[in-house]
Amino acid sequence: MTKIIVATATPEATRRWHTVMQAALPGHEVIAWEPGQSSTGARYAIVWAPPRALFEVETGLEAIFNLGAGVDAILALPDLPDIPVYRLEDAGMAPQMAEYVIHYLSGMSRGFDSYARAQAQSRWAPLPAVRHADWPVGVMGLGKLGMHVARAVQAVGYPVAGWARSAREQTGFDTFHGAEQLPAFLARTRVLVNLLPLTPQTRGIINRSLLEQLRPDAVVINIARGGHVVDADLLAALDSGRVQAAVLDVFNQEPLSPEHPYWQHPRVRITPHVAAMTLEAEAAEQISRRIAQLEAGEPASGRVQRETGY
Ligand code: NAP
Ligand code: GLV
Repeated sequence: MTKIIVATATPEATRRWHTVMQAALPGHEVIAWEPGQSSTGARYAIVWAPPRALFEVETGLEAIFNLGAGVDAILALPDLPDIPVYRLEDAGMAPQMAEYVIHYLSGMSRGFDSYARAQAQSRWAPLPAVRHADWPVGVMGLGKLGMHVARAVQAVGYPVAGWARSAREQTGFDTFHGAEQLPAFLARTRVLVNLLPLTPQTRGIINRSLLEQLRPDAVVINIARGGHVVDADLLAALDSGRVQAAVLDVFNQEPLSPEHPYWQHPRVRITPHVAAMTLEAEAAEQISRRIAQLEAGEPASGRVQRETGY
């Protein structure tokens, strides 16, 4: 019976995931991490923001399963052992991302915010018809989440393009890749959706230079990581009107401090890192399937490439 340890940021979350994963892995012994405990001999760890002590104590681990899609935080842990790390791939997050983007995109392009204000004043105030062609969307990152978002936005009728590290074929929309094609991608983009992983190459990518290359009346939707944004540059672009609105789900510091200028900025919409949340059943199914594959000596998908950082 293989031992698997669960360790997250809080005892409550660890207990909850212990219950969920033990139900999904009936043939294995799932153990909840407790501070101060000695080694359990676990072969696998299922984690989200685990305590540092986990890797000091559990020295027999063969693989780590991240309870999320992004691995920037786990890869930054100083004592992370040199063993395979697996991340969630979609696991129900892609439809949530598409819903989030379409909600804010259509809210702005169709003026739904304006209709809410008009209703508050009992005012019948139709806006002119909207041409989707006037709202070209550009998705940075065409991975599990970005590709789904691009296709969903395209299905609603907006012109879509995507930008990734490597070339894409047969996506059904325009794609760009690499640093050399970024300017052309930005020049045709009005609504920028960020779904890149946070890596040394992408940190601070949403900066003054990038924002200046977007089409006029640009909108920034950041649903990846706060570290992608240079906050002072985005605030300056919002203040000048160069960027007409920013929808921000993720921040350089979370929770966002109550004093942060984003909160009260009239052009900013904030959500508290909820654009796509880890779903228990989907995550448990994906992780338990991968553990079964590894136990059978087969490869499992979702393995993070340490060299690229995602
Ligand atoms: P993924 O499948 O790994 O896709 C990453 C995409 O980014 C790939 O298309 C990749 O290009 C591209 N990319 C990476 N580095 C690049 C670079 N230097 N230049 C250009 N493109 C680059 O990731 P995912 O599962 O879609 O997740 C994306 C991110 O969403 C996660 O890393 C996480 O930070 C964030 N996220 C946020 C939430 C939330 O609630 N806010 C929830 C889940 C995830 P290639 O295709 O060429 O490799
Ligand atoms: C959430 O932000 C995730 O990376 O899954």
